[in-house]
Amino acid sequence: MKLLIALLVVSAQLASALWPLPESYTNGTTVLWLKRDVRITYTGPDQSASPPSYGNNQGWQSSPQIVRFAIQRTYQTIFSEGYVPWKFNPRNSNFEPSVEGQTFINSVTLKQTAPDPPNVLKPLAGEVDESYKLSLTESGEATITAATSIGISRGLTTFTQLFYKHTKGGVYTKLAPVEIKDAPKFAHRGLNMDVSRNYFQLADIRRMIDNLAYSKFNRLHLHVIDSQSWPLEVPALPDLAAKGAYGSSMTYSPNDIEQLQNYAALQGVQMYLEIDLPGHVASIHWSQPELIAAYDKQPDWNIYSNEPPSGSIKLNSSKTYDFLGTLWDDLLPRMTTYSAYFHTGGDEVNIQTYNFDDTVNTNDTAILQPLMQKLIDFNHDAVRARGLVPIVWEEMLLVWNLTLGEDVIVQTWQTSTNVAATVASGHKALAGDYNFWYLDCGQGQWLDFYPGASSTQYYPYNDYCYPRHNWRVMYAYDPLEGVPEDQQHLVLGGEVHIWAEQTDPANIDRMVWPRACAAAEVLWSGAKDSEGQNRSQIVASPRLSDMRERLVARGTMAEPIQMPFCLMEGEKCAL
Ligand SMILES: *[C@@H]1O[C@H](CO)[C@@H](O)[C@H](O)[C@H]1NC(C)=O
Ligand SMILES: *[C@@H]1O[C@H](CO)[C@@H](O)[C@H](O)[C@H]1NC(C)=O
Ligand SMILES: *[C@@H]1O[C@H](CO)[C@@H](O)[C@H](O)[C@H]1NC(C)=O
Ligand SMILES: *[C@@H]1O[C@H](CO)[C@@H](O)[C@H](O)[C@H]1NC(C)=O
Ligand SMILES: *[C@@H]1O[C@H](CO)[C@@H](O)[C@H](O)[C@H]1NC(C)=O
Repeated sequence: MKLLIALLVVSAQLASALWPLPESYTNGTTVLWLKRDVRITYTGPDQSASPPSYGNNQGWQSSPQIVRFAIQRTYQTIFSEGYVPWKFNPRNSNFEPSVEGQTFINSVTLKQTAPDPPNVLKPLAGEVDESYKLSLTESGEATITAATSIGISRGLTTFTQLFYKHTKGGVYTKLAPVEIKDAPKFAHRGLNMDVSRNYFQLADIRRMIDNLAYSKFNRLHLHVIDSQSWPLEVPALPDLAAKGAYGSSMTYSPNDIEQLQNYAALQGVQMYLEIDLPGHVASIHWSQPELIAAYDKQPDWNIYSNEPPSGSIKLNSSKTYDFLGTLWDDLLPRMTTYSAYFHTGGDEVNIQTYNFDDTVNTNDTAILQPLMQKLIDFNHDAVRARGLVPIVWEEMLLVWNLTLGEDVIVQTWQTSTNVAATVASGHKALAGDYNFWYLDCGQGQWLDFYPGASSTQYYPYNDYCYPRHNWRVMYAYDPLEGVPEDQQHLVLGGEVHIWAEQTDPANIDRMVWPRACAAAEVLWSGAKDSEGQNRSQIVASPRLSDMRERLVARGTMAEPIQMPFCLMEGEKCAL
């Protein structure tokens, strides 16, 4: 009897082991098994009808590819990357369904009800409908219905989370019948990955893309260069990477970028690039030292930048404009296949560097501001000329008071107040307060301190954004905090950030996963529940643990949320 009660408690937790939480969800308790040879049929919009007449037909052609990719991933996830949920059941309990008299799922039907928009691989926020409906009947008919191939893909991702591996072989769900109706709360759900402070192999970035898609993120913002290294190959400016990368094997070729973007786009993740001008480009010094002012000021580098090496691109130099013209002519046309956006940076510009900029020789913002405006206008015009939408860091608007085009999206990072200030000025905003959504905080300093200063000034060597933001803190962040209702539509969503001073391929998995999932749920499901209350950790925690097990089963070294005791015993680890 005791065991029975325990089982009920635990299975109540597993009832909704879906991450992120769907908009609406009901389930039953019938066990159904899934076989490898189950028929998955896809009926798209009438492909024999004449293709849509708009611009290019890339979207039209890629729809079957997106669905094929999603189906292949579904097989792989369910049959090769499943796990046995022993942790979520009392120790030594018989939690698995009997393998006698199995009922199998007969069919999985995917129904796409409309043609994909032509820009399905590179939509602006909200241009691709990601909603879907999923139904699994007690008699074993599974159906996913969506207006787009990406909706189908999102539905299949949810579908995989219904299943567990059985110790005697096979996979099953205990939850039939299932009815799910789902749609994202925010249109821009991203992760910003710094691949400049440390170099990441393509496989690391692909693994990131896979896990982003699995968590229903839809953007990968690649912070592809910074002051410490320039790994991005630009054929028209070959020395940039040849001299500015950490090493000749640590670069990204145009083909690498395109392959990654394609791989991401097929999973509904748009990968876009950032060149962080003018303050985070000191690595240009390695190829064109004449373009960089106040390069690597020592030993008092901290007057000139937040990190060594200091250096900003010169603000009033025709050579700067020649360089940028060449850079944009080469880079931007290649971006248009798979992105709608290009991020031109703009954070942490240090005005003291301009005292050493021989084209201005001043730190007076009254003189610098119009020159900054001119530089950003030049960059944004170049971005727009290729049909891309510019994104900038918040300082360009809130510190430099620049006049930005109506199309420009402002990425905030410092406070929720800045989200509100951005949308109050009429601009679209991305949220991602570093006190909540920086994944790299709390690792301690990476600077070394001289003996004297060490013990007095810097002990115990905390970093600027400590402590580490645990998943509960990330989960408590609401992108709409303090934003009036009539301006909330301007908050497109947000991004979590993984800066790479202390992150490299060896620890990226545990630095990002599963904490980023907390942000994924805020962005997909909203920070508040259907009653408008903060979401409960009590119900989220076991679901997130389940998601973590799935990530591990996929080969990602995600950290545990709790010890098995807590997962086995209902709510005993609650307070
Ligand atoms: C949903 O699934 C859980 C776990 O199996 C179960 O306890 C619950 O009763 C199910 N809901 C319904 C309405 O059957
Ligand atoms: C910017 O450069 C132009 C052309 O060299 C020069 O005339 C002007 O004085 C410069 N502006 C500042 C603030 O130095
Ligand atoms: C500008 O630079 C001068 C000289 O280095 C310095 O004394 C002054 O404090 C700086 N002004 C600002 C606003 O940072
Ligand atoms: C922007 O405006 C604020 C408030 O008026 C002002 O304090 C600040 O100095 C301005 N920044 C620049 C770079 O002009
Ligand atoms: C809900 O969460 C916010 C932080 O996002 C917090 O400020 C607020 O106090 C919480 N409300 C309740 C009722 O716990």
